[in-house]
Amino acid sequence: MTSTAEALTQRLAATPIVGLIGLGYVGLPLAVAFAESGATVIGLDVDPTRVARVRAGESFVEDVPTSTLAGLVTAGRLTATDDVAALKDVDAILICVPTPLGKSKEPDISYIVSAADAVAGVIRRGQLVVLESTTYPGTTQEILLPRFQARGLRAGEDFFLAFSPERIDPGNRRYTLREIPKVVGGLTPACRELAATLYARITRQVVPVSGPETAEMVKLFENTFRSVNIALVNEFAIMCRRLGISVWEVIGAAATKPFGFMPFYPGPGLGGHCLPSDPHYLSWRVRLEGYEPRFIAFADEINRQMPTYVVQLITDALNERGRAVRGARILARDRDPPDPTHEGRRGRLPRPVRAVAHARAHDARVDRLARRRSRGSRPGADPHAAQRVRLGGDRAGGAPRDRHPQRDRGRSARPTRHPFVAGRRGPPGRPGCAAGVEWRREKPRRDPLVSCAPFASGLT
Ligand SMILES: NC(=O)c1ccc[n+]([C@@H]2O[C@H](COP(=O)([O-])OP(=O)(O)OC[C@H]3O[C@@H](n4cnc5c(N)ncnc54)[C@H](O)[C@@H]3O)[C@@H](O)[C@H]2O)c1
Repeated sequence: MTSTAEALTQRLAATPIVGLIGLGYVGLPLAVAFAESGATVIGLDVDPTRVARVRAGESFVEDVPTSTLAGLVTAGRLTATDDVAALKDVDAILICVPTPLGKSKEPDISYIVSAADAVAGVIRRGQLVVLESTTYPGTTQEILLPRFQARGLRAGEDFFLAFSPERIDPGNRRYTLREIPKVVGGLTPACRELAATLYARITRQVVPVSGPETAEMVKLFENTFRSVNIALVNEFAIMCRRLGISVWEVIGAAATKPFGFMPFYPGPGLGGHCLPSDPHYLSWRVRLEGYEPRFIAFADEINRQMPTYVVQLITDALNERGRAVRGARILARDRDPPDPTHEGRRGRLPRPVRAVAHARAHDARVDRLARRRSRGSRPGADPHAAQRVRLGGDRAGGAPRDRHPQRDRGRSARPTRHPFVAGRRGPPGRPGCAAGVEWRREKPRRDPLVSCAPFASGLT
């Protein structure tokens, strides 16, 4: 290890200054975790609103309580800025910018490029840079490295470079940053050790891998694994319906196998906002090597048709009862209630469902407020009253998780006159699937005509 690396190791283990680019759902919880570990954190974002809110100690991410953020900001442990020059004296720079898809499902790494350019303008000897954004294997070496080397600095000697995928699951209280092992791939052994030293501050376990491209691939494997398994269970739901078998009963019984099986549940959602896009980063990269991946495309095809499939179920069920889709009231709900602090990431029904149902996500708190406001005004003035809808949003597919048990307890919506319930839920009584309990508490006064619920008259 060079003397530069040794000095940086000591700073990273003691009271480092950490710069964080991208104060979003990944960046802000990380910033808070580092600040809580005793580091001084400078968050950089191009969004002036986010900068202002962090400066005001006001959280917009559900995993970060405002009281925690405000305490750290007041204590001077965490600041926010839109000026990249503020990062020139930091010991480590973590990049947590978005990685969406382009129009043809090709990787859009423009945010990474602009963040890398910004870092290249300030990087100096004795700094560690870690990319956290989900991206295709090779990004760290091909996009970041040349920009920093162009400054005349040597990787692994003057500055240090690594990739460490963010695996956070927003809203998951059971597996927080501290409990989720951090995979780290450094450009050189010194880069890896420095990154491991940094992350040891905020996580119980660091998992070193041989290089950045391996770490990049780990994240894509994890997300492709989920996407493919969600597609598999979605197709199982379709097959079970054709055969007149309850897919929920099948999954519930299969999940009793203590090894070799992991339950996933069908639904209209695409399993979060990452799953529909991340695997395409891998497809794109591998295609450049002349290989056409099949699982990813097939899983994507099945998952994307699920909203339309669910709409068809709704339409068929209404038809059977001589009811029209037009004017139907639909209660769509999910285990994950929409969170107003989450800026609408969840809480949106898949587009075809919204189109057919004129439905919208139902938030009990908003609803209660609206009811209170409309009290005393003319009947029907409550904009939520006409369409009380419990969320069946973009999180709908996926493995069971212990989500929001505390927050859910405080919520109790009392929707009325729903002829219909569509949504996905795990089997009642399963750990992490409080749906059964919630259901009884939130049951509409008049029973729905049909339901996707596993224990009501099943659509799936
Ligand atoms: N949200 C998740 O659940 C999750 C989980 C694991 C991994 N990831 C990955 O982490 C990355 C970040 O995701 P996110 O959900 O935090 O995104 P986000 O959109 O919530 O936040 C990204 C932030 O980066 C800022 N930004 C963009 N370009 C910038 C630049 N050049 N300089 C400074 N700030 C800039 C944006 O203004 C935004 O505030 C993505 O690659 C995502 O796939 C997300």
